[in-house]
Amino acid sequence: MPASRNSWRWWFAWIVIAATSYATIRYHLAQHEPWSRFYFWTVNKALSYAAVILLASSYLSARKDRQLARALGLCGFSLALVHSILSWPLLSAFNYPKLYSNGALGPAGWGCLLSGIAAMALLFGPALTSFPRFTHSLKPPQWALYQRLGYFALALVAFHVAVYGFGGWFTPSKWPALMPPITLISFLLAAVPTILRLLSNKDQENA
Ligand code: HEM
Repeated sequence: MPASRNSWRWWFAWIVIAATSYATIRYHLAQHEPWSRFYFWTVNKALSYAAVILLASSYLSARKDRQLARALGLCGFSLALVHSILSWPLLSAFNYPKLYSNGALGPAGWGCLLSGIAAMALLFGPALTSFPRFTHSLKPPQWALYQRLGYFALALVAFHVAVYGFGGWFTPSKWPALMPPITLISFLLAAVPTILRLLSNKDQENA
């Protein structure tokens, strides 16, 4: 049995624990948000953060260990789906003031929501086609095309978090306990696989 068959469980558990600890320390211990917001305001942040880490890890490990990449990708997809669903009942000016202006969703709010919805829709492509039923019924180039949709999804996720968090990225003195915003870390994590992919395409063109 390949090591990756089981190792994804450890990766999944550790990434969820690390993301939840980060969000809890940053928002509750350092920023003193009331604990009543833990469910589901903080949990939603932790799940979205873990989703980005898992999706980025999936694309970064795809060439080395396909089984592990598939498992991490499906875990990331599932958490992104939970975040997408959980965000709707939480959507309000009280929970996300940066997304609202004059009591209604502002340009940042619409940008964040539409890019999130588009990213989630694109993620269905690689997720569904990673199941054997689809893998066997598609020709390899078609399958690869669906998998590549994940890079576009990651680029949209980078935009999604930038629209929401950009304003706070350049004021480290205001970061609780000097911990960088989840949006900034997620932006970098989402951007890296996409940039590496673009660079390797360029190398192949030049070869
Ligand atoms: C229907 C789709 C989506 C909706 C409605 C949505 C909604 C939101 C909202 C309202 C926020 C800002 C509030 C917050 O801090 O939690 C947010 C932030 C975030 N979203 Fe999404 N999102 C969607 C899809 C996604 C996807 C596919 C991902 C990628 C895995 C993602 C990752 C994130 C991350 C990492 C944050 C920053 C969390 C933070 O720093 O607080 N979202 N999303």
